[in-house]
Amino acid sequence: MKSITVPLSKKSARVIVRPLEKTDYDNWVQAHSCLRPAQNEWDETNWAASQLTKQKFNELLKKEKKQRLADHFYSYGIFRIDDGVLLGSVNLMDVSRGIFNNAYLGYRIFNIYWAQGYAQEACNCALSIAFKNLKLHRVEAGISPRNKKSIRTARGLNMRYEGLSKRRLFFNKKWEDMMIFALTKEEY
Ligand SMILES: CC(C)(COP(=O)(O)OP(=O)(O)OC[C@H]1O[C@@H](n2cnc3c(N)ncnc32)[C@H](O)[C@@H]1OP(=O)(O)O)[C@@H](O)C(=O)NCCC(=O)NCCS
Repeated sequence: MKSITVPLSKKSARVIVRPLEKTDYDNWVQAHSCLRPAQNEWDETNWAASQLTKQKFNELLKKEKKQRLADHFYSYGIFRIDDGVLLGSVNLMDVSRGIFNNAYLGYRIFNIYWAQGYAQEACNCALSIAFKNLKLHRVEAGISPRNKKSIRTARGLNMRYEGLSKRRLFFNKKWEDMMIFALTKEEY
């Protein structure tokens, strides 16, 4: 597929999903500096100041742009429309074209904004970009059987449970099983 040169974005009632831009630096620093301690093994707390420099941010933007232009990995910030606050991220990862036309969905909401429906809304925006703009045929999410919150997110998106993939992901120094959820264009 021809690479997409225009950064794509999608709005819903309360959020806009779009790539990070240079002007988001202060917002990004704030987002990674005001969190509660990690709430579970998949969550993250604040980053050290050394990880939040302008140089690190610019490197991140550069990397994300390169991955986007390569049609390989699409990273999006989730912004609240009301006040512009950065709520988290949603990604369409490891795009595989040719006979697959598949990507993996990844998502994270910063823990101070949990349980307000933002993951659902943002992931729905990402699915719209995936199927309507990027012309993907299948989006897949791999979730640890212990990650109950994420399983609820996938089910809420009407992703279909396909089965347990054994020893799929190396996480926290061990191979982990993953529950595979998927949605194809036909179902979407
Ligand atoms: C998994 C994760 C993304 C969920 O984020 P979230 O924004 O809290 O999820 P939502 O708010 O959309 O859904 C959580 C609950 O809030 C409820 N909710 C509360 N207010 C709501 C509103 N105004 N609108 C809709 N839903 C609302 C939802 O119904 C849902 O209830 P349920 O869990 O009983 O189904 C978040 O916990 C996270 O980032 N975890 C760490 C990273 C992670 O695990 N990522 C996934 C790896 S596979």
